[in-house]
Amino acid sequence: MAAANAEKYKSDGTAVGGFLEWVDARFPLMSLWNDHLAKYYAPKNFNFWYFFGSLALMVLVMQIVTGIFLTMHYKPDASLNASGVPVAFASVEYIMRDVPWGWLIRYLHSTGASAFFIVVYLHMFRGMLYGSYRKPRELVWIFGVMLFLVLFGEAFMGYLLPWGQMSYWGAQVILNMLSAIPLIGNELAIWVRGDFVVSDPTLNRMFSLHVIAMPLILVGLVAAHIMALHEVGSNNPDGVEIKKKKGPDGIPLDGIPFHPYYTVKDIVGVVVFLMVFSIIVFFMPEGGGYFLEFNNFFPADPMVTPPHIAPVWYFTPYYSILRANTVNFFWIDAKLWGVIFMGLSTIIFIFLPWLDRSPVKSIRYRGPLYKGALAIFVVCFFILGYLGMLAPTPGRTLVSQVCTILYFAFFLLMPIYTSLDKCKAEPERVTA
Ligand code: HEM
Repeated sequence: MAAANAEKYKSDGTAVGGFLEWVDARFPLMSLWNDHLAKYYAPKNFNFWYFFGSLALMVLVMQIVTGIFLTMHYKPDASLNASGVPVAFASVEYIMRDVPWGWLIRYLHSTGASAFFIVVYLHMFRGMLYGSYRKPRELVWIFGVMLFLVLFGEAFMGYLLPWGQMSYWGAQVILNMLSAIPLIGNELAIWVRGDFVVSDPTLNRMFSLHVIAMPLILVGLVAAHIMALHEVGSNNPDGVEIKKKKGPDGIPLDGIPFHPYYTVKDIVGVVVFLMVFSIIVFFMPEGGGYFLEFNNFFPADPMVTPPHIAPVWYFTPYYSILRANTVNFFWIDAKLWGVIFMGLSTIIFIFLPWLDRSPVKSIRYRGPLYKGALAIFVVCFFILGYLGMLAPTPGRTLVSQVCTILYFAFFLLMPIYTSLDKCKAEPERVTA
């Protein structure tokens, strides 16, 4: 890869130019710049859906930077202080009230978590609209799904840290799921918690994973995700492979250099995002109880179980799937089936590249079957998300069971309906 762009940086006679030439003789500065920006040819027909990758990257950086500053003041300690409040909870209140600009850093981080999931869900949906997971981008997609799963872990552990009522009881519910695993379940749950219930050792290990292990894995996966993408080239809203039509100079006819064209265009997305994000951070940082739940403004109390425990909105579709199974079958009890279905509902995205048999990639040229199936999938996802926030009733459980079946049917029936679908012919070149 580097060999193709091996031209070295030539100084323009200035001090900076001289320094860059010195660096480039010792480090692949120019080839990195060329391979990933100045000579990375991206299709010229990207639309707004293509903003979400760079936005996800920006939010990741924002989370890391705000997280570093939060860690300077936060204390992962469940013991009670002189006022009878857990030290961890009190340290978050200290950040909010006494640390200069601490309230802003904390709200950027807590609202940033929800923003991250909004951006990533839209980013994944773009992939499903334009068939970006299809050959040759299977690995780009798989790294993406891994990012999605690690992000879930990262968010779950982060939510535990303020040590409020929802942090505590949410963690209790989720970590208790481990005990549903036959034979080793109970031992495993104790090992993970470091105690018989969620307590100080749990808080300490979640802190360590949240600030070190998970961010390292996320950053590594993002690097792999982008390297894999730049190896095969970007898809686009037409689903046409631009590398198939190259000019005499070897450059795709429908490609334009990522820099400056898309670096500048992505700034538009960043500005719009920051405008909406700032309005939320400054005027409704709790997101009406969806981003930070009201119960989490009370310190964790192991003696008082809140009447209704619900995870944050980005987990609720999967929480609904967890609760949807109410019957024991094949000698496996309902609780364990719930855990299995919940796990499968996230991992199943990995198989999309092989489940989809359509001759075209983009929704623009697909037939009514895929369009209908995707629409039903999205509606079910929203219904499951909504129901996951509410206490279960027999009626709600029935609806979530139907939606869970339709959710899985979208994937499992995909080889059939994508083969039968009446697609339009894909154009030879992108339609700008
Ligand atoms: C931390 C999370 C993530 C970051 C920072 C990230 C970043 C990016 C960036 C910068 C791009 C190139 C720009 C673009 O096409 O929008 C991209 C492309 C892509 N991402 Fe992600 N991504 C993340 C998560 C995911 C997830 C969860 C999935 C899917 C499960 C995914 C699937 C894809 C695919 C398929 C492409 C290629 C799209 C195309 O060429 O049409 N990404 N990602």
